[in-house]
Amino acid sequence: MSLRPLRSMLYVPGDKPRAIEKALGLRPDAVILDLEDAVAPEHKAVARQNVREALKQRWTCPVLVRVNGLGTVWENDDREMALLAGVDGLVIPKVETAQSVRELQVRVPLWAMIETPTGVLGAASIAAVNGVAGLLVGANDLARALRTQPHPERLPLLGALSGVVLAARAAGKIPVDAVFNDVRDSGGFARECAQGRMLGFAGKTVIHPDQIGAANAAFGASAAVAAEAQALLDAWKAARAEGKSVGTYKGALIEQMHADEAAEILELWELDRSGE
Ligand code: COA
Ligand code: MG
Repeated sequence: MSLRPLRSMLYVPGDKPRAIEKALGLRPDAVILDLEDAVAPEHKAVARQNVREALKQRWTCPVLVRVNGLGTVWENDDREMALLAGVDGLVIPKVETAQSVRELQVRVPLWAMIETPTGVLGAASIAAVNGVAGLLVGANDLARALRTQPHPERLPLLGALSGVVLAARAAGKIPVDAVFNDVRDSGGFARECAQGRMLGFAGKTVIHPDQIGAANAAFGASAAVAAEAQALLDAWKAARAEGKSVGTYKGALIEQMHADEAAEILELWELDRSGE
């Protein structure tokens, strides 16, 4: 799964059959059928049934299930249902320790949500657990736990966001940015995607169909960026063919790392296009 781009991961509430049906026709890079925050306690059982049925459908992307938190009364039933139904991965909310995910011992990739202060502090060891594919930030819960105030550029959360990126990247895992709540504010969403990409996230969790395209664009490679990467790579190859250790592109120094970065962009571009 890690070879696929994960620019957009769409949360779909398990108690909204219409949204599940709608999601089948959308093209996010992954779907997360949610049994946790989006589902009220009295709807948990029916949501689990809906998700069981949904997992039988033909999806064009990996489908994950966000189970209820470790230690809740719903957690075991959620996990059992999802695994039996052939889910592609589990999203575990409010993970705080490596031990708690290690103990799960399931055969599908796990996505650990980092959304508490303790979770942020433990993110490096959580990311390092075998079977953890990536970390997802839960900014709503985190902001509440930290008692931060809202800020258009997420200034109060920057330390935590970067901490999650650092932890995931150090372990070779995938960091995915938090949701943006105002589904009508497309400008604000695009700005937050750009910020997330700048911080090092691989993609963004999204909550509405309208957010998928913008997330895919922000975290994918554009034709112009791919062309630029190809030109840099050509300049690098030419320099190396002449026996030079380093080269220049448009007057600026290029080294092996720049060539590697360009190759990665081209790979992403190919993957993005093959998924369209
Ligand atoms: N996945 C799939 N379809 C969705 C969707 C989602 N997350 N969110 C909305 N839709 C669908 C609606 O069903 C509706 O479809 P229809 O018009 O064909 O019936 C269409 O998109 C337009 O929805 P809209 O009316 O703009 O949204 P809303 O105002 O009803 O709901 C939210 C807004 C935020 C409540 C809703 O998008 C949502 O529940 N998102 C997911 C929340 C979630 O999962 N939270 C947990 C993680 S933080
Ligand atoms: Mg949460």
